[in-house]
Amino acid sequence: MRVTEPGITKLAIMGGTFDPIHIGHLVTAEEVRREFNIDEVLFVPTGHPPHKSNINMTTSEHRYLMTVLATVANARFKVSRLEIDREGVTYTIDTIKEIKKVYGKDVRLYFITGADAIHKILTWKESEELLQICDFVAVTRPGHNTQELLHQIEELKRNYQTCIHFLEVPALAISSSNIRARIHNMKSIKYLVPEEVENYIKKHNLYEYKICLTVEERDRMCSYVTLKMSPKRYVHTQGVVEMAMEFANIYHMNCDEVFIAALFHDIAKELSLEEKHKLCMHYKIELDEFEKKHIDLAHGKIGAALLENDWGITKPSVLDSIRYHTVGREGMSDLEKVIYLADMTEEGRSPYKGKEQIKSLALYNLNQAMYKALYSSFNYVTRTLGEEVHPVTYKLLEYYKQYDL
Ligand SMILES: [Fe+2]
Ligand SMILES: [Fe+2]
Repeated sequence: MRVTEPGITKLAIMGGTFDPIHIGHLVTAEEVRREFNIDEVLFVPTGHPPHKSNINMTTSEHRYLMTVLATVANARFKVSRLEIDREGVTYTIDTIKEIKKVYGKDVRLYFITGADAIHKILTWKESEELLQICDFVAVTRPGHNTQELLHQIEELKRNYQTCIHFLEVPALAISSSNIRARIHNMKSIKYLVPEEVENYIKKHNLYEYKICLTVEERDRMCSYVTLKMSPKRYVHTQGVVEMAMEFANIYHMNCDEVFIAALFHDIAKELSLEEKHKLCMHYKIELDEFEKKHIDLAHGKIGAALLENDWGITKPSVLDSIRYHTVGREGMSDLEKVIYLADMTEEGRSPYKGKEQIKSLALYNLNQAMYKALYSSFNYVTRTLGEEVHPVTYKLLEYYKQYDL
């Protein structure tokens, strides 16, 4: 940070976790800047705020970078690493003193904070001094209980001779927690965060929910699956679960997600043709021409629909690994490969040429194993059964050939 900041007489400090930063924060900063004729707004992403010590926050570096991306286009917005670089618990008073040191004692500071924080301000570290050395701007969305807030502001002003301003900002109806919830539920966050932030979140898979099962939930899922298939199919399923879990450990994957995908992969396998057709209609499942001719292959897509509908599992990676375990697809994720390979190599599956090789390859290189597995499956269908394969198989064989030993 610069030692002095020439030309700045009014500096607003916008603290927050920015997890993630959104349009509401930016509109607020700009409103405050205009309203109080501020020279510069300094965004200070928090490190470990004492009031939120138990919250599972995104790493400081991600939050800092998103804040930089969101503010870079505005020359009057700056971002400080002051709090995120500080070890241990962060207190506002320490930050304000630090900033005062950097910007010089003649700079008038405006600390922007949410209305909720004003209610608790006297519990903050060295709150009396804090109220003396900077102005506060309490921002709130319209509809908040302003009477109570204004009353509290008046009381603080009277008791501490401090300057607390109040500003309503409609855009504050947007909240970071709401954005995180939208991402969990696969809803769009377009226009709620700057495009650069949206792309950053996507690139780093931030806020995607991770499935976490209790022992009871696992048991309930197993009971459900048992009822949906013959004992023989259930033995195969358990074999796939075991094999997939072994791969999950090797490739550091989310074990609960792998467990669900493996357990449910053949949930629709033994449904009658009529039931399969009925469920495809019911869930509006789109089948390609090949699947329409070979309806048994639809058991992956139907299985995914049942998991989503009966268990509320919406995580796309889990659903896709069930959907495409039958013949695979282009651009398969590691989870999709793991389910495909576990299905082909589980202990109980009758031995076939290449099975052991595919299994040992899968333990250290999924792509090499994929090539052998696809090749073996292609040979079985075309030569042993004398049937045609799904057209995607040719594309996959061509793609994975580069991994052939
Ligand atoms: Fe299957
Ligand atoms: Fe299977």
